[in-house]
Amino acid sequence: MSTNKDRQMHLVAQLPSGQGIEQGGWRWPGADKAAFINEDIYVKGAQLAEKGKLDGFFLTDTPAVYINVKEMPPHHSFDPLMLTALMAKATERIGLITTMSTSLNEPYNIARAMRTLDLFSKGRAGWNVVTTGAGPALLNFYSGILNHDEKHARSTEVWEAVLKLWGSWHKDALKLDVDSGVFADDTLIQPINYKGKYVTTKGPINMPPSEQGMPVIFTAGGGNYGYDFAATKADAMYSNPPTLEYATAFWKSMKASMKQAGRNPDQFTVFNGIGVSIASSEKEALERRAALDELGDPKSRLRYLGHMLNIPITGLDIDKAIPPELLEIAYPSPSDHRSKYAYDLAKKNFTIREVLAHGPINYHPIFMGTPESIADKFQQWFEAGVGKGFSVVPDSGLDSLTDFVEQVVPILQRRGLLREEYTGSTLREHLGLPYQNGLPEQKTKTLIAKN
Ligand SMILES: Cc1cc2nc3c(=O)[nH]c(=O)nc-3n(C[C@H](O)[C@H](O)[C@H](O)COP(=O)(O)O)c2cc1C
Repeated sequence: MSTNKDRQMHLVAQLPSGQGIEQGGWRWPGADKAAFINEDIYVKGAQLAEKGKLDGFFLTDTPAVYINVKEMPPHHSFDPLMLTALMAKATERIGLITTMSTSLNEPYNIARAMRTLDLFSKGRAGWNVVTTGAGPALLNFYSGILNHDEKHARSTEVWEAVLKLWGSWHKDALKLDVDSGVFADDTLIQPINYKGKYVTTKGPINMPPSEQGMPVIFTAGGGNYGYDFAATKADAMYSNPPTLEYATAFWKSMKASMKQAGRNPDQFTVFNGIGVSIASSEKEALERRAALDELGDPKSRLRYLGHMLNIPITGLDIDKAIPPELLEIAYPSPSDHRSKYAYDLAKKNFTIREVLAHGPINYHPIFMGTPESIADKFQQWFEAGVGKGFSVVPDSGLDSLTDFVEQVVPILQRRGLLREEYTGSTLREHLGLPYQNGLPEQKTKTLIAKN
């Protein structure tokens, strides 16, 4: 029998650049134009997400400038670990998930930093494992870039070494026995002597596990390696599905792969990235989106829409619908999953501006409209089977995250789709995961005498 909890979705919030992912978001009326370097905004974001009883606040990270900084802030600026450390002290229950790349860090750095965060937050940390795509970030770290296969082989080693480091300090090791003078049972704190092809670390880690043991393992990655990592090693995944159909097919396939790997898909959450634009009517929401688009780079969006529909539209009046003679020869581009949505909108006679405002070419699918209709969309996707979770990206900073928490969250709660109170205190508990410290085999293996 399904319990109420089985009917509940999992949500995390994101605030890329301190404001969202819209190119012109920094120009939005009332926005802090330099939000990307205002740490208070991120901390307030985490507090707001906690007010909405969300599972976590999520920080992606690519340490490089890889967008057109002439027109928008870098997607990632502050070191996310430092932000989560601030958040840990300003919140009590919300999970704090941060990204550390397996290509840009040594295992001991990751194990130590993430355990520090886990202890600061009393068991609320999540490590988002990424390999980092080729390009600017890798160039900031290497003189010779690892090739694709080497990057993935290194990633598996880093993951294994980090988990072993975490497991190298047993949960019962700390004694703090003043009378006998025994601070810790050192037979339960042992080196791991990890020697891989790419990384080496002796261990042990230098602090005990947190209330949840070790951080929850998230991952965000495309390609075969990212998929396999999620299916065999991660507890949760951040995904960027272009459409609902893609998201349901992805989860179906992921569930099958997890079962094949002997894992329980009920203990795994896919956090589907969704952009949210809230207004008091559908019409206002469309206007809001169109205004945001206008602050970005409307010309390049128009060009891209033309590619999606395979027709020349750059010379057309964007406040008119695409003329029927052009629509007749248009077809959705097979190389972009989102093209069919753009095509369907154009067929419905929306003006070009309105087609774009619906978000068919945005990084995330956009849920726009009234709080009620946005809640309907979350429910529709959740019930269609997309892996239980969403990563909510507001369209313009704290104000829109506030609207989400104050207007959409209560509707989802009333429908029984979202928790009204936290029942656990760790991120593992929020996500229905058991305590874990290190690799499963480390739990049973007796820690042997140190060398
Ligand atoms: C939804 C999504 C989010 C990602 N977030 C990050 C990130 O925050 N930091 C990062 O370095 N790479 C990120 N990546 C890149 C992946 O780690 C990975 O390198 C990329 O998908 C290319 O795969 P490859 O390793 O097979 O080249 C992300 C990828 C996807 C699909």
